[in-house]
Amino acid sequence: MYADILPALRCPQCTHAPLTLLGPLEEGGEIVAGALHCPACRTQTAILDGVWDALNDQPVAHTPAQLTNYFPPTARVYEPAWRWLALTLLSGRRFPLREELLLLRELMQPQPGQLYLDDACSAGLYARALAQSGAVVVGIDHSFPFVREARRRARQRGLRISFMRATAQALPLANGALAGVGMGGSLNELGDQAGALAEVRRVMQPHGRFFCMNLVAAASGWGRLLQRMLGTGGIEFPGITELNQQFAAAQLRPRAQWVWGVVAITLLTTENQAEHVAAHS
Ligand SMILES: C[S@@+](CC[C@H](N)C(=O)[O-])C[C@H]1O[C@@H](n2cnc3c(N)ncnc32)[C@H](O)[C@@H]1O
Repeated sequence: MYADILPALRCPQCTHAPLTLLGPLEEGGEIVAGALHCPACRTQTAILDGVWDALNDQPVAHTPAQLTNYFPPTARVYEPAWRWLALTLLSGRRFPLREELLLLRELMQPQPGQLYLDDACSAGLYARALAQSGAVVVGIDHSFPFVREARRRARQRGLRISFMRATAQALPLANGALAGVGMGGSLNELGDQAGALAEVRRVMQPHGRFFCMNLVAAASGWGRLLQRMLGTGGIEFPGITELNQQFAAAQLRPRAQWVWGVVAITLLTTENQAEHVAAHS
């Protein structure tokens, strides 16, 4: 992790901010070891291998789908074996990664020096795309193998991205600290989706942008059967109406939305303006 995100952090235990950095060991400007101390509740959390473990080594996976993300081989193969093909297979049209990341950047308009989050980042695909625009970026995931892999990939490309182990339902980030949040395909397997969306709302600035790519309920009988089976493993597929109700409950307002096959991409803001949703199927 890098020192520029320290003012945006808050205590994972009592929510106090700011935290004090203890005994930092730096390599090439990155804090690779040390601890973050909360002066209010005295909780101390470690920075190990360049990653802040806001969960203090506690395992938090509940569902079979979440547990598979705790296996290091899953983290290694996720991007090269699946991620580049995922949207083409799920959307029913040619949908290369290049197009998804272009859309991410066009809709989020990352500003140099502003802080963005890749929420439940896996190997950090969105984090890298945002950091390439000069933004300050933090990636969180509850799986250590995944945040380690995300850090490895970012460093390989010379990108300064801070990674932390945390849950999407308890982001260790201060209220209104972020200019934007990207969430790529994670909402379906987060567990408490309402809790995760409320956290997105809390950490965003009033004019912040939230780019959410997730999967929705299939239209065909076979698709729905497959999704019901995946549902037993903890992956949920809301209908588009239900999805938009969840956004509304979190006071997140859709500004643009596309649905291709079972892939939904939505740009949301926290602004209290009239809604404008351009839906395409
Ligand atoms: C589908 S993958 C995300 C893919 C990634 N965003 C991308 O664009 O390539 C889902 C990720 O969510 C993480 N995850 C699941 N539940 C979580 C939770 N409650 N809090 C934080 N991360 C979670 C998993 O460890 C996994 O890495």
